[in-house]
Amino acid sequence: MNKSQLSVKHLLGIKEITEKDIYLIFETAKEFKQIINRPIKKVPTLRDTTIANLFFENSTRTKLSFELAEKRLSADVINFSAASSSVKKGETLLDTVNNILAMKVDMVVMRHPSPGAHYFLSKNIDASIVNAGDGTHEHPTQALLDNFSIYNHFNGKIKDKKIVIMGDIMHSRVAMSNIFALKKLGVEVKVSGPSTLIPKYIKTRGVDVELDIEKALEWCDVANILRIQLERQDIKYFPSLREYSQYFGVSRELLDKMKSKKVIMHPGPINRGVEIESQVADSDNSIILEQVENGVAVRMAVLFLLANRRKK
Ligand code: CP
Repeated sequence: MNKSQLSVKHLLGIKEITEKDIYLIFETAKEFKQIINRPIKKVPTLRDTTIANLFFENSTRTKLSFELAEKRLSADVINFSAASSSVKKGETLLDTVNNILAMKVDMVVMRHPSPGAHYFLSKNIDASIVNAGDGTHEHPTQALLDNFSIYNHFNGKIKDKKIVIMGDIMHSRVAMSNIFALKKLGVEVKVSGPSTLIPKYIKTRGVDVELDIEKALEWCDVANILRIQLERQDIKYFPSLREYSQYFGVSRELLDKMKSKKVIMHPGPINRGVEIESQVADSDNSIILEQVENGVAVRMAVLFLLANRRKK
């Protein structure tokens, strides 16, 4: 296993890590991907490490993927879900986490609705923290697994690919983390979707805007399609889901018009028939389930590298 170190003690966001960190995570994930495809999928690497998964917001993929990654590394794992906890009785975030840490926990994986909750924790506790999504801010392991999936699909040739991120950019932590990661890797990025869902500042992040999704799709090698984050929308940004799917949904008909084959990605959960048609999500253009498979290897790599950093 690679002996290099990450430049950070916590994974709070992609903004804080370097291009070298990203490639180190990719190279380590490649090794773990081989391991989890063997008949014996488990390694003893984190045998003496205890990890708490703290989820203050719903999750399917991220929660299960982290738990599986931790178990494949032989860590001791405890799970916390805010919905069934004493948070409901008024306990603060810091009190909740300090009580969990009193049980001798080494690492915390946390999803929280408040942007920056992980920065606050990192200033107050000793455990290594991994951000599993904080509000509309960042979702770093999703971006790492998305970028690793592109890297893997094109046999390591990611720099010369053109990537478009489509949909609700404004409310998406996945979009922000992906943009930070892709720009650090030197990749050309465009965003596409309704103008009301594209933040005005987006060009300052080094990305271009193409409002016409047919042109955006024709331009790219890879389209990462995002769902409409209705739970984060305070006002109406478009008239109806039907109209959204008509003008901004990626359909089979649209994909068939393209001059070259496009790779289709989606971080999930998918809203079939809204941002993506089933005939696209389930087609051979789609690497959506490869993203999920790669997520376990990427999270194993992140946990392994952060645990190594703690030992120094
Ligand atoms: N992609 C993603 O974060 O999915 P979950 O919300 O199910 O974890």
